[in-house]
Amino acid sequence: MAKMAASMVESGEDAFRKIFKFYKRRNPPPDFSDVIDFSRGVPSDKVIPAKLDLVAVSDTEAARVGLQPVRDWRAFSLQGYPGFIFISNPFLLGSQPFWVRQCLKTYPQKPNVCNLDMHMSSSDTQDIWGKSIHGLSCPPSGKREPKTLLERLRWVTLGYHYNWDTKTKDPWSVGVMWLRSHTYSANHYTPFPAELNLLSFQITAACGFPGFNAEAGILNYYRSDSSLGIHVDESELDHSRPLLSFSFGQSAIFLLGGTCRHDPPTAMYMHSGDVMVMSGESRLLYHAVPCIIPAPQGHTALEMEDCSLASSLRDSTVVEQMSEQDWAVCSRYIQSSRVNVTIRQVLGPGQSFPETPSHHHRTDAGQTDGYHEGSVDGERSKRMRSSSCDFVDIGKT
Ligand code: OGA
Ligand code: MN
Repeated sequence: MAKMAASMVESGEDAFRKIFKFYKRRNPPPDFSDVIDFSRGVPSDKVIPAKLDLVAVSDTEAARVGLQPVRDWRAFSLQGYPGFIFISNPFLLGSQPFWVRQCLKTYPQKPNVCNLDMHMSSSDTQDIWGKSIHGLSCPPSGKREPKTLLERLRWVTLGYHYNWDTKTKDPWSVGVMWLRSHTYSANHYTPFPAELNLLSFQITAACGFPGFNAEAGILNYYRSDSSLGIHVDESELDHSRPLLSFSFGQSAIFLLGGTCRHDPPTAMYMHSGDVMVMSGESRLLYHAVPCIIPAPQGHTALEMEDCSLASSLRDSTVVEQMSEQDWAVCSRYIQSSRVNVTIRQVLGPGQSFPETPSHHHRTDAGQTDGYHEGSVDGERSKRMRSSSCDFVDIGKT
């Protein structure tokens, strides 16, 4: 692949796009041999062990949110990407299922906002989990059954919600896509989940960023054929605060580029439980997810089914024990899907939003009706989000 990347850089002006397409290709499948796998934990000339703040988070505080003691985390930096930290699954055995359930059952609930709200009434999207569990628990009947709401879920926003209010032509591929408007606004806010704030606080503290305040979150729900286009996350007002990313379920390829859209990216695997921190010079780098790939053995939350949390931890943790039925639904879902959570602090200390016109508020959701337009089977829906000049899509393309 090193050869491949080099030849692409020589031959074309948009190296990132070419490498994106290379990994997105299905037939024949791409050569993954040059993709960095941090879970193997082998330092190399590119992969360097990262220094963490070992006293910022006590073992008890870490366990409270389902994390291993910080000294046991396998954290890495990447040569050439200062501020980028990759933590290879720091979760305690048995705690990932709780976070998966939060992503599938709790966070899609109102007042949080999801893609289904764009073309359904709030009563129809009131209980996505409850309306989906029957369909998801039953073994496939062989008949073509309508997709459950959970299977149609593509994104959820938490805290300060993005406005998904503009539609445009994608200049780099084909089709109509949604633009992510690059403003958050003070009046489009709902309370951020406390336990997710705590998890983010502990991880960022261990990475040298005390006092992080999770104010906005985006959950992306990927099916096996989904991808996320090349973009920068620059909507937040304070870029000195890190951006955090959590992966659950199936694996994916992550491409981390440079400050220019054309800079060739580095490819790495994201497995279930992996955490990425983009801070400092890496906070505003271009990145993308060209493909989802089946989780290798030993990397699915499925294998944690029987590992209930050590009883000594149960009283002092936000990680609740979950019912067998909840787990049955979650494990079936993540057998073919990936969930990614990105957490952002939007405002710096003492910072506030500039005055925003009130039309940026909730009414924008109405304008995005037709989000699934062009979709053939409901799965072909595309979501486009954008920072000021870039595009993101999730869905079959
Ligand atoms: C995002 C993002 C990466 C991922 O939501 O902005 O870059 O792994 N997500 O899904
Ligand atoms: Mn991003």
